[in-house]
Amino acid sequence: MKNTIIAPSILSCDFGRLHEEIQALEIAGADLLHLDVMDGHYVPNLTFGIPFIKFIRKYSELPLDVHLMVSNPGAYVDELCSLGVNWISFHQDTEPHSHRLIHKIQDMGVKAGIAINPAIGLTSLEAIMSDLDYVLLMSVNPGFSGQQFIETTVEKTRLLKSCILQNQLNTKIEIDGGVNATNAQHLIDAGADILVSASYIFSHTDYAEPIRRLKNV
Ligand code: DX5
Ligand code: ZN
Repeated sequence: MKNTIIAPSILSCDFGRLHEEIQALEIAGADLLHLDVMDGHYVPNLTFGIPFIKFIRKYSELPLDVHLMVSNPGAYVDELCSLGVNWISFHQDTEPHSHRLIHKIQDMGVKAGIAINPAIGLTSLEAIMSDLDYVLLMSVNPGFSGQQFIETTVEKTRLLKSCILQNQLNTKIEIDGGVNATNAQHLIDAGADILVSASYIFSHTDYAEPIRRLKNV
């Protein structure tokens, strides 16, 4: 069985009980905490920023995976890296100098990834693929949790995986949006390494059960 990394997104948690929710995810076997930063500009929703992530860093030992859905990702990177997050991704269409930003993140000891929306093809990544620690394939249009999984992501995952293998790279594939126990099997078979999930996990009372299901398919 493949060792799939499960990254719950806290977007669907009870923010009034944030600390308890994070503790429950730790106990339930989460591997990474996925933090969706939205600026109300790149995407039509506004979530949280650096002060909030500082709080989470203080109260959780889990590696933090920051997904920047913002128009100016470069403005966030210094502070995020110095507060101790572990993974940072930004959207390919938000940064004209993505090669420079990827290496800046990596030089600060943090894994760097590029996120691509459902409408964007893999060819846009060709030139930078070997520089990336991971690619985040959006399986919904970014902005909200609770949306329906876009099925064509499975084939996109397969294509990306074959390109990674052909080029003998170690790039990880993270899938984000509408992931549940039904599509997880197809995604893992296609080559996914990291599965993000918000609404599927938080629709359960015991988070261990959905995490186990996502891991064990
Ligand atoms: C969407 C976010 C996702 C989202 C996932 O823009 O990037 O991380 O929280 O939520 P679910 O799993 O409910 O689709
Ligand atoms: Zn996300």
